[in-house]
Amino acid sequence: MFRTIKPSAASADRARLSGGETLEQLVRAEEGLVSRRIFTDPEIYRIEQEKIFERAWFFIGHESEIPNPGDLVTRPCGVDPVVLVRDDEGVIRVFLNSCRHRGMRVCRTDKDNARFLRCPYHGWAYRTDGSLVSVPAESHYGPGELEKEKLGLIPVAQLGIYHGLIFATWNEHAPPLKEWLGDMAWYLDIIVNRTGGIEIVGTPQIWDVDCSWKFAVDNFTDNVHVFSAHQSLVQLGMLPNDPDFACHGNMITTGNGHILHFVKGAPGEAAFLYLGLPKEMWPLFDKNLKPAQKEIAAAHGISAGTVWPNFHWLQLVTSGEMNGHPHAYLNFRLELPLGPTRTRMYSWLAIDKAASAEYRKISYETYVRTFGPGGIFDQDDMENWEDCTIANVGPAAKRHTLHHTMGVNRKTDPNWPGPGRAYSDSYGEMTQRAWYAEWRRMMTAADGAGK
Ligand code: FES
Ligand SMILES: [Fe+2]
Repeated sequence: MFRTIKPSAASADRARLSGGETLEQLVRAEEGLVSRRIFTDPEIYRIEQEKIFERAWFFIGHESEIPNPGDLVTRPCGVDPVVLVRDDEGVIRVFLNSCRHRGMRVCRTDKDNARFLRCPYHGWAYRTDGSLVSVPAESHYGPGELEKEKLGLIPVAQLGIYHGLIFATWNEHAPPLKEWLGDMAWYLDIIVNRTGGIEIVGTPQIWDVDCSWKFAVDNFTDNVHVFSAHQSLVQLGMLPNDPDFACHGNMITTGNGHILHFVKGAPGEAAFLYLGLPKEMWPLFDKNLKPAQKEIAAAHGISAGTVWPNFHWLQLVTSGEMNGHPHAYLNFRLELPLGPTRTRMYSWLAIDKAASAEYRKISYETYVRTFGPGGIFDQDDMENWEDCTIANVGPAAKRHTLHHTMGVNRKTDPNWPGPGRAYSDSYGEMTQRAWYAEWRRMMTAADGAGK
């Protein structure tokens, strides 16, 4: 059911770089060979702006972040700033956060509730539905000089919502969100609808890292790094002291570049069943999930996934303190590229609406101790992303490839009960290869429309 479009000769020509190479030569995803150049090269970064960040669907936020009319948050859609707002009628809208007059940001706060969006520069004011309502010094415009009805805020081309997750795209030719997600929606059900829905806690943590956005993405479904990069957590008794701790599971690619895994963690331990949620919530899984979805959720403790290109979930079971008990939390992540070697991270905590006050507290505490800019996991990861970036900026490094061959010959697992291509053993690089293959397809597609 997924589309595969081979790049045309014309589009391949357009993808030829100034040195004469093509992106097909640089990204041999099926062989697991990816040029280091794609991570730091300003020319490739410029092509990404047009081919990916103007074309793909992007996660903007969750409905629970803007429950009331006038509620708004500011976010990126691709690399452009947007306002996500619930208008006076309760309709969710996403606009370019830029005034129609001189382009000033109309909202300069992360989160607010407003009747009108008033530009701080000359005072043009917009309703929450984006229409321009008032212009100071309006009487000084002559007849026909100001057509207010044509000067509303610029909306995204398409907006889609799945179980409260709000996505948008600047691309009017992109397939609808349902088609874009494809089989990934089946797995998103397990993550966000297992107990009847989730909600965001507070506001996202936002911070900048000196790294290529792609190194952060690459890390997200990488299980092999856990025992090495996070060895200090093993030594503190916050992770199992087992090098194969994260290998008991399946890696899955669902098409369109979407990728995920389910990991058992410490097999058989109750803390690692039902995605680590407390026992009193387990009956809700039966109520909200299909039998195969429930079977997967019940047998696993950990899951991470990437909705192509840059939205991730992390369902983790870990301890938040030395030799403590493992607890679960659900983390959403987004990378906003600020340049080829600088990335803004967004990190949300989500909690099942049905969760008890006790679970909310322990889930929150475990999350802030382990993830986000002050989290012990994230600090380990960020150091690796930054050093991978530094080491691959130079011309000598850029002549060589990186190595993503683990499981390149592995057969799919016929017993996996879910859709997509599943591979047993969650130590493998099938997910990264699928992500880079989609990156290459989008970067070389004639229309770049993801179809
Ligand atoms: S830039 Fe917004 S009112 Fe002038
Ligand atoms: Fe990590």
